[in-house]
Amino acid sequence: MELFDKLSQGEALIESAILVQINFGSNNRSQSSSSSNQDEHEFKELVRSAGASTSTLITGSRASPDSRYFVGTGKADEIKAAVIQHDADVVIFDHSLSPAQERNLERLFECRVLDRTALILDIFAQRAQSHEGKLQVELAQLKHMSTRLVRGWTHLERQKGGIGMRGPGETQLETDRRLLSIRIKQINKRLEKVSKQREQGRQLRQKTEIPTVSLVGYTNAGKSTLFNKITGSGVYAADQLFATLDPTLRRVNLPDQQSIVLADTVGFIRDLPHDLVAAFRATLQETIEADLILHVIDSSDENRDFFREQVNNVIQELGAEDVQQVEVMNKIDLTEQQPHVEEGHNGLPARVWLSSLTGEGLEALGETIASIFAKNTFKGKLRLHPALARLRAQLYEDEAVISEEISDKGEYLLDVVIQQRRLDTMLGKEELTLEQLQL
Ligand code: GTP
Repeated sequence: MELFDKLSQGEALIESAILVQINFGSNNRSQSSSSSNQDEHEFKELVRSAGASTSTLITGSRASPDSRYFVGTGKADEIKAAVIQHDADVVIFDHSLSPAQERNLERLFECRVLDRTALILDIFAQRAQSHEGKLQVELAQLKHMSTRLVRGWTHLERQKGGIGMRGPGETQLETDRRLLSIRIKQINKRLEKVSKQREQGRQLRQKTEIPTVSLVGYTNAGKSTLFNKITGSGVYAADQLFATLDPTLRRVNLPDQQSIVLADTVGFIRDLPHDLVAAFRATLQETIEADLILHVIDSSDENRDFFREQVNNVIQELGAEDVQQVEVMNKIDLTEQQPHVEEGHNGLPARVWLSSLTGEGLEALGETIASIFAKNTFKGKLRLHPALARLRAQLYEDEAVISEEISDKGEYLLDVVIQQRRLDTMLGKEELTLEQLQL
């Protein structure tokens, strides 16, 4: 939040950051060198996305974190020297720090110290667009802050007794805590309201029987680019982490006239802070309740298997592991691959290789999604009495009519392709059965 505040005051204000990444060997994140390179690259990308520039990255390895400084005193001195040398504004750790560690380090370095959670929260704060997204980020930030309040307060304590600082028998810390808890309650209440509205929207969609297809994937895999290509809408796509934070929903017509609702969701990332997963559970509800998950993977990335695993972990954490999944192997324009569809052992499509940028393979994806829902598709002829003009108009509205003839008796003879569930709903409204209409 602090980074964001500064950035919003002036574009030119780029902070200089010292990054710290410690490998805890086999006890913690044991890694091959390629995944630790990947971690390093991702960490720098996160910092860049937050709007800071990396002065230097300090690495090291330890058996376990030190309770006082997280790192050993030797490493802490090394970081302090780097802070002075680069005149750094902030030291960012690629780990979770305890409030005490953060405080001790700030005292030692005499500059701000952020941990991985605060860094990701900061990026989320910049990216959140919707009312709900903003509330969720603020809530997660306040929760993160509430354990660290002591720091914000200590410098005020020195002025205790000064004008304006004399509370009604309360210490500043208690006031801060109280204000914070009031704000948290307020946000929770508002979130409840927003999530009720979201729930209503979802129920409406369920009523109209339109299946939801949810795009998930590691951050920067190309979800928004694919979403834009499919829907033709201008959702923000950028070479930055978490360009999309809030789910965006659009209705899409598939090649065989079926409709789906396509949802673009927040990018996943390894070690997503738990508070955030909880905060975004409501937003990611679209994923949990989707009829199909399209798992977008950057196929040109050598670490794609690692990313795939991380995303599947989050999917599991969200309780969405039972939702049918098709992998979209994106960015084939950067590889030797041709667009194609791979089948899984169960005979269902498992993987579609395509490029969201060039559009090659996109048609196959549309056909694949259509085929998955096809068993729910009605294809055939209907005979409608002239009195059923409302039903006929609805079929046209759904773009379900392929051709039409008029019989000698003035009946409409329609060639129709429509989702079975959708047709059932329409017929139900007219108190008709399919048998009554089928030719
Ligand atoms: P988050 O919002 O962070 O979750 O990212 P995202 O998955 O929505 O990724 P986004 O669509 O923003 O794309 C990330 C970068 O990859 C952008 O620079 C895109 O132009 C690029 N990109 C996406 N698809 C392709 C592709 O098929 N080929 C190539 N060469 N680049 C692509």
